[in-house]
Amino acid sequence: MPSNKSFKHKQDPHYLKAKKEGYRARSAYKLLDIQHRYNIFKRAFYILDIGSAPGSWLQVAKEIAEKNLVIYNDKYYHRDDYKIMGIDIKHITPINNIKILKGNIIEKEIEEQISSYFNDKLDLIISDASINKKGDKFSDHINQIRLCNDILDLTRKILKKKGIFVLKCFQGSDFKIFYDDFSKDFSIVKSYKPIGTKKKSNEIYLIGFKKKFKI
Ligand SMILES: C[S@@+](CC[C@H](N)C(=O)[O-])C[C@H]1O[C@@H](n2cnc3c(N)ncnc32)[C@H](O)[C@@H]1O
Repeated sequence: MPSNKSFKHKQDPHYLKAKKEGYRARSAYKLLDIQHRYNIFKRAFYILDIGSAPGSWLQVAKEIAEKNLVIYNDKYYHRDDYKIMGIDIKHITPINNIKILKGNIIEKEIEEQISSYFNDKLDLIISDASINKKGDKFSDHINQIRLCNDILDLTRKILKKKGIFVLKCFQGSDFKIFYDDFSKDFSIVKSYKPIGTKKKSNEIYLIGFKKKFKI
């Protein structure tokens, strides 16, 4: 017998829509909503997705990057091809033309592999990475902030100047401190709850525009 939780999940309109439209997860619509609202993929050709499994953000990133090659083929910043990399601790079923890494984002070796793949030219970093929630809101929040700090540290090193960064966070006692730290590196920062975020969830996405400098 399916649990009440999995039954509810399977009735969820975004879950059903994702199944119908061929996305691997309902989270695809969160990224599409962020894109619709903030156009984060504008002139993005080199893209890193952190915490990618099962891969719906990678699917969205690929669709948009393919369009970008045509839309932005002009005298301004453009590239002849896109590069997308996805990283997760969990297995990601391969997607054509996307480089997949299995590992923890905090590992030095992973950082080196990212840097050498993109050669420090990353236009956009998107992270939907989230800790394994244990159910205690406070400790889940603290652990997610810790993960966010690790991802922010990495982003400081590898995102190009003026690049864009999207990061999933959990609201709670330490959110403001983290938000202030995040804000130091970007000219504009927005916090946004995209459609598809569950009502009770403390999940929120931070979007940093125009990274100020590269360490
Ligand atoms: C909500 S899921 C991502 C869903 C994905 N955006 C999609 O659309 O298919 C969060 C993922 O973050 C990954 N994750 C959590 N901590 C990580 C870490 N330190 N390094 C790499 N991946 C991590 C988890 O394994 C999990 O697969």
